[in-house]
Amino acid sequence: MKKTSSESLRETGSVRARTSVPRQRAALAARSGVESEAVKDVAASLNTLVADVFALYIKTKNFHWHVSGPHFRDYHELLEEHAKELFAMVDPIAERVRKLGEPTIKSISNIARLQRVTDNDADDLAPEDMLTELLEDNKNLALRLREAHEVCSEARDLATASLIENWIDETERRAWFLFETTRRPGSTEH
Ligand SMILES: [Fe+2]
Repeated sequence: MKKTSSESLRETGSVRARTSVPRQRAALAARSGVESEAVKDVAASLNTLVADVFALYIKTKNFHWHVSGPHFRDYHELLEEHAKELFAMVDPIAERVRKLGEPTIKSISNIARLQRVTDNDADDLAPEDMLTELLEDNKNLALRLREAHEVCSEARDLATASLIENWIDETERRAWFLFETTRRPGSTEH
């Protein structure tokens, strides 16, 4: 049966849609100066970072909301400051992935599948245990940021590597504050 002109047009359009997406991605990657074969590695590394940072943001907020005791005001405000820093990281990381032409996080369930940060829904956590847990999470995040930095450097994605350097500094600062706040007199252990 002969196809109508609108059917032919739709088919041509769908073929074009199927082939143009990878071409667009390659073009975007080329514009970013990143080798096209390395783009997938950089995007995968950044997407797991988005998930980790978002999960740590929620966890920090959780402890900010639920902390109590004689140091309430100090701990509550420290964790608010940390949560703001973490939230501010999410958008630039996800947008780096889009600038490379790759898809990024789409939902909370997408985050849950990728996150390496462990959630903590406990009801009776002591304030010091909250801070100690966040200290470990931030130390782990600093390690993962370094790993992502290596992936970006190998791919010559200098823009992302440069952003990551600032986030390593911020993450180490959060870890420092959490360490000093939880440190017992005489202890030097980090
Ligand atoms: Fe608040």
